[in-house]
Amino acid sequence: MTTSVDHQVPPSSSAPAAASPDLGTLQARSISAWFGEHKVLDRVSLTMNAGEVTALIGPSGCGKSTFLRILNRMHELIPSASLAGEVLLDGEDLYASARRITDARRQVGMVFQKPNPFPAMSIYDNTLAGLKLTGVRASRATRDDLVEECLTKAGLWKEVRDRLRAPGGALSGGQQQRLCIARSLAIRPRVLLMDEPCSALDPTSTRRIEETIAELVAEVTIVIVTHNMQQAARVSHQCAFFLAEHGTPGAIVEHGPTEAMFERPQDPRTSDYVHGRFG
Ligand SMILES: Nc1ncnc2c1ncn2[C@@H]1O[C@H](COP(=O)(O)OP(=O)(O)OP(=O)(O)O)[C@@H](O)[C@H]1O
Ligand SMILES: [Mg+2]
Repeated sequence: MTTSVDHQVPPSSSAPAAASPDLGTLQARSISAWFGEHKVLDRVSLTMNAGEVTALIGPSGCGKSTFLRILNRMHELIPSASLAGEVLLDGEDLYASARRITDARRQVGMVFQKPNPFPAMSIYDNTLAGLKLTGVRASRATRDDLVEECLTKAGLWKEVRDRLRAPGGALSGGQQQRLCIARSLAIRPRVLLMDEPCSALDPTSTRRIEETIAELVAEVTIVIVTHNMQQAARVSHQCAFFLAEHGTPGAIVEHGPTEAMFERPQDPRTSDYVHGRFG
């Protein structure tokens, strides 16, 4: 039996005390998704609370990335793609016809699996690259402050402050990923989606990104896809287990506070997955 119940679990005890009022609570309601005739998600409902990290886990192909792309309106860029259901950001429909798609993406940022800074562009300009795309103008002093602020939040400032004019491509993989996080933060998103942000990184860089996530969650709601169960356990407050069984579309088998998902899973399939018995 696959269930997709709305998420009514209160924040876990390890969650940050009080969420800032600017934070975004993201609610997916009965999301289904298709590529052409192929249905890949079936009525997925999940609330991703402000001030918390929500981890999406599950075997390859169960629809985690598709779900993430629906949360910031990237799914609709794929020609054959369609969807049903609702995404609400603080109660407001992200897909409302009056809302511009760029506005949705500004509020819900995304960091991808493979670090993708502009390689020839300077670290400084990379950090601000998102501002140009959203048409925001700022004075030189404001830009300098923003670069320092975002690189600091992304945990990269100390490593690059003496070479801000060096190209982004000259950084290590882990540094490039933190640069991409800084670039996402510069447009002040309320939610940050991360699709396996550490899968191309070494353990030290992975740790550094995890520390960055822990610091950022006070300011931005985070949803992270990971195949690394230890990582899900370390960084997330809430966890949702996706599964696409026997060719059926992906659905959430179980979700709740991370500790409960790992220590006392309700569904045997969750238990098998989090203990590495399949997937
Ligand atoms: N652009 C696309 N066109 C057609 N089908 C797609 C496309 N992207 C994904 N799919 C299909 O949608 C399903 C879900 O894919 P998705 O990438 O969301 O899974 P995932 O859980 O992120 O997997 P992984 O853990 O490997 O990243 C798969 O069956 C996949 O083949
Ligand atoms: Mg994926």
